[in-house]
Amino acid sequence: MRKKLVAANWKMNGSKALVQSLAEGLKAGLPSLENDVNIAIIPPALYIADVQRELAETQCGFGVQNIARWEQGAYTGEISSAMAADSGCGFALVGHSERRQLFGETDEAVADKVRQAMCHGLVAIVCVGETLEERNSGSANAVVAQQLQGCLQGVDGAQWKNIVVAYEPVWAIGTGKTATAKDAQAMHKHMRQLLAELGAPAEDITLLYGGSVKPDNAAELFAEPDIDGGLIGGASLNSDDFISICKSL
Ligand code: PGA
Repeated sequence: MRKKLVAANWKMNGSKALVQSLAEGLKAGLPSLENDVNIAIIPPALYIADVQRELAETQCGFGVQNIARWEQGAYTGEISSAMAADSGCGFALVGHSERRQLFGETDEAVADKVRQAMCHGLVAIVCVGETLEERNSGSANAVVAQQLQGCLQGVDGAQWKNIVVAYEPVWAIGTGKTATAKDAQAMHKHMRQLLAELGAPAEDITLLYGGSVKPDNAAELFAEPDIDGGLIGGASLNSDDFISICKSL
């Protein structure tokens, strides 16, 4: 049985005041969840300890939005997988399209980050997805195949249980445009086949959809057989919307 997961990517948003109000909203809404959804809250790193303290009595797990590709040392500004694990994080986003586009993160760098996450027992949420030009030119499947292959080549054996893949078409992130449930399902099915080719226990791997998931489109996306949850950006900054999305799974 694959685990269902909804992850909240707060991106570079928030403040101590927002942590407090979001946490209050989440604590009020979480008891109403009757499904077996797993939840990961992924705030900016500086607020992780605050979020952990506020949500300590809940079922939420916690994560970082990015990790270093190196183990430790003279890498000013970076946060290592060991530090994330030591701070009580169970999840790390890697290869988010904003990191790829704005910070030049390559598949090679993402593969190093995945290796680091595996070494320290983190669940790596590996993000892939095509741009609008790539979709329009018919190369979406090939682009995602190349990303998966490049980012997951070092993963082996028992490590696969710590891999989650998030399909986030770049053109759908923060734009209000969502892939249709059918298109998203088609890509998820494609990804599951690719994972099997890479030696993964593909049927057991949790695959998330991300890109403008909102309370009014979540149920339709999550109803698809190969979509096991969501990676939620904008809507995770509103606790009512986030709880409603979690309920849809
Ligand atoms: P969005 O972001 O829900 O705001 O589109 C998703 C993401 O980038 O993870």
